[in-house]
Amino acid sequence: MAQFPFKGDTTPTIFEKSVVGRIGTRVPDPDVDTRPLDELIPTRHLRADSEAPKLPEVPENEVVRHYTELSLKNHHVDRALYPLGSCTMKYNPKVNEAAARLPGIAGLHPFTPQAQAQGALELMFELAELLKEVAGMDEVTLQPAAGAQGEMTGVLIMRAYHRARGDVHRTKVLFPDSAHGTNPATAAMAGFEAVEFGSGPDGRVDLEALKAALDENCAGMMLTNPNTLGKFESEIEEISRLVHEAGGLMYMDGANLNALMGVTRPGDMGYDIVHFNLHKTFSTPHGGGGPGAGPVGVKAHLAAYLPTPKVVCRDNGTYALDWDRPDSIGKIHGFYGNFGVLVRAYVYGRMLGREGIRATAEAAVLNNAYLSALVSDQYPLPYGRGMHESVFSPVDLKKRTGVKTMDIAKRLLDYGFHAPTIYFPLNVPEALMVEPTETETKDELERFAEALLSIAREAETDPDLVTTAPHDVPLRRLDEGRAGRELDLRWEG
Ligand SMILES: Cc1ncc(COP(=O)(O)O)c(C=O)c1O
Repeated sequence: MAQFPFKGDTTPTIFEKSVVGRIGTRVPDPDVDTRPLDELIPTRHLRADSEAPKLPEVPENEVVRHYTELSLKNHHVDRALYPLGSCTMKYNPKVNEAAARLPGIAGLHPFTPQAQAQGALELMFELAELLKEVAGMDEVTLQPAAGAQGEMTGVLIMRAYHRARGDVHRTKVLFPDSAHGTNPATAAMAGFEAVEFGSGPDGRVDLEALKAALDENCAGMMLTNPNTLGKFESEIEEISRLVHEAGGLMYMDGANLNALMGVTRPGDMGYDIVHFNLHKTFSTPHGGGGPGAGPVGVKAHLAAYLPTPKVVCRDNGTYALDWDRPDSIGKIHGFYGNFGVLVRAYVYGRMLGREGIRATAEAAVLNNAYLSALVSDQYPLPYGRGMHESVFSPVDLKKRTGVKTMDIAKRLLDYGFHAPTIYFPLNVPEALMVEPTETETKDELERFAEALLSIAREAETDPDLVTTAPHDVPLRRLDEGRAGRELDLRWEG
């Protein structure tokens, strides 16, 4: 029985559309050896006819229509604004995709000898230089494949640094209660004790709480800036001073870099380590399970611990992979990381240039300021407006009407928007975390604001309409717990 895309959806699968012999393409005569397979390959390596792959037979136009239709059942950034806070689901220029798919780039084998992969090595070297400049760091590795893996790389570097100094008693990593879940998870996975402390009433780091948490066992602190409430940590220099004074290192979760790149730099704020989410800030789409890249930048005193291999430029101007790094934390990812993502980031950074990178951050903040101003009468901001994202808290609306943040998120689907991030950060009740991103126009921001305001009106006049949403999408409310636990994506013909 067909079970894809979802039980209950009547759209036939591509397999159900298949009719034997209905193929719309003419394949040219093969220019390779056409002898029967069992003459070319030992029979023990051949699969039985009964195990032959079941491939659908559908003409090209039907294939295109099928997948176009499927793509419209879901939301994506090519359809409308995708306001998923903390995730930076912005529109990515298609030219970056085109560059990553150039045959010489997409087809490059990871075992290609270095002498024949000079262009790829140069691209990686140049990208690292660009990121060093953006972050104010001295060295960068491109290897980690995600933000969370960048965090792991950074925290392992933190561990190596303290061990090399004999400071093995430094077992605690601090973070504020607004931190992204990957921060404490990473610290714990790296063998540290993850120590949370409370934020101040303005949503920023509470200096007194930080001082109380700091002691001689502190290995470092993980802090994103702007933090997960979108607030700039204006006391960052003092925070860094306090952590350094206690012997710890400052780690910046750079996932929110699109709020300040080109304007100010983590390295200048006192951070020792930073990870970038290239798949958020630098063009590759975030989400969807595709590949990502979470490069890590460090100050000079930590450079020796970066993963192997490192791309270097030799004195004669050629590029190479340097494996001779005795203090390195080792390899973090296969080969050199996700090269395609690095290509997209390189093209994006080069196209923007210094001025464009700054303008991107300014637009991210301006767009969020405008959107927040349009809706904050109905959707209060307990910590005020954030920089590139804001966390609304419609608690009173819930008290008056029974409409929860979850219902608002579901109703937004009927208006043709993806839901914002909800119930995160954990320190905001009924959190609705919106990140409009720099790529949206004023008109699109207004369209989205009008949808939010319209839902607030519906909550007052017809709350059932909202609490039973979505109504106009292919599938209504799913049992999300079950959908996660009993994930069934396999078609069984
Ligand atoms: C603040 C913050 N830190 C870390 C991460 C982890 O990044 P990744 O999903 O690439 O592992 C995210 C992801 O959205 C994030 O928003």
